[in-house]
Amino acid sequence: VAGLLAAGALGALAGTAGGLALGNRRRVDANAGPGLADVGSRTVGYFGEHQAGIVAPTRPQAHAWLAGLDLDPGADGAALGRLLRSWSQASAQLTAGRPTGRAGDLVVAGLGPAALTVTVGLGPSLFGKPGIPSSLRPEALAPLPAFAGESLDPRRSDGDLGLVVAADDPLVVTHAARVLTSLAQGVASVRWQQVGFNAARGSGSETATGRNLMGQLDGTNNPKPADPDFAARVFATGPGWMRGGSYLVVRRIRMLLDDWEVLAQADQEKVIGRRKDTGAPLSGGEEFTPSNFGSTAIPVNAHIRLANPAFNDGAAMLRRGLSYVDGAEAGLLFLAWQADPRHGFIPVQRHLVGVDALGRYIRHEASALFAMPGGASSTSYVGAGLLESL
Ligand code: HEM
Repeated sequence: VAGLLAAGALGALAGTAGGLALGNRRRVDANAGPGLADVGSRTVGYFGEHQAGIVAPTRPQAHAWLAGLDLDPGADGAALGRLLRSWSQASAQLTAGRPTGRAGDLVVAGLGPAALTVTVGLGPSLFGKPGIPSSLRPEALAPLPAFAGESLDPRRSDGDLGLVVAADDPLVVTHAARVLTSLAQGVASVRWQQVGFNAARGSGSETATGRNLMGQLDGTNNPKPADPDFAARVFATGPGWMRGGSYLVVRRIRMLLDDWEVLAQADQEKVIGRRKDTGAPLSGGEEFTPSNFGSTAIPVNAHIRLANPAFNDGAAMLRRGLSYVDGAEAGLLFLAWQADPRHGFIPVQRHLVGVDALGRYIRHEASALFAMPGGASSTSYVGAGLLESL
């Protein structure tokens, strides 16, 4: 009953009948039985032109584990090739819900793959390690520049290898993460790891834009797969092993929620340039109405004005972030996928720093960049194109 009351109260706050705007379409008693039976059984295909987890599944999974790993001393290109092959083999099994033959498989007994995806990347620091010439590092994979005013924790940043494991079930995520890290033993060790979450599958509408911990709809003006320039913005065209791949920028961005929450809602909306309830731009309309930046209703320092491609020479990226809570700290695990960070994250972040009204309420604490190669075929593995050229 408490849940129903809360949904009703939120609906009233949003000023809409029945809480529709907040996605509370189905009001079912929590004890009423099944209805979510497909959450565990959903699968996202592992093989393809692109690695899973970038565009598919459309709705980001509820749970994710991110990690940066460093090659162990003595590990070379050949050892890395074996590791990447074993990661792809295990990922294909896990994402199809097949056992890996390990004792830990019982952790997920009866659960199904829950839309598990495993996405693998290579960091700038990998190039120059034994047997992996630095000359093979794509120019787009140069380390991110330092941005004014940031103070990043190196122990939670960077990495020779990056892993993004996501699923709608936290046990499935944890099991896959353990399988992958145990396969890396003797070759690579975890440098940092981080868990994040989105709304649970089945709560809220399947297609609605998700909310972050500041309460905003986050992801509205992302490039959409149906856009004619979607692939050009999100997927790399070269070098060969990056064809169909994407560059991933990870930022751990702490939200200063105590400061944010005392701000009046109208002022919070000016910070972003959008309404909090519907996500509509302050220039008017609905969530997906294009922003009219000629309107003074969107302040000059509003986040969406400064971040919009029109004010960044067309720079764009696909943002699929996750919330995190870490003791008393909370924030956004900002994940942005792009064809080239020099025409994506880098110019936009440069533009935002020091000017963005959101800047007072957030703090970038950690950072990583990875080249996420194209997807694997059933006879190959992610990264094979690079490793086989060594
Ligand atoms: C905790 C940090 C951040 C929060 C809470 C946040 C929140 C938001 C929100 C609520 C929107 C409007 C809805 C949408 O279109 O998604 C938005 C838009 C956007 N944000 Fe952020 N953001 C953060 C950090 C960043 C960073 C670091 C970048 C890139 C450097 C970025 C780039 C963008 C872009 C490109 C848009 C779309 C702008 C447009 O064209 O309308 N954001 N963000």
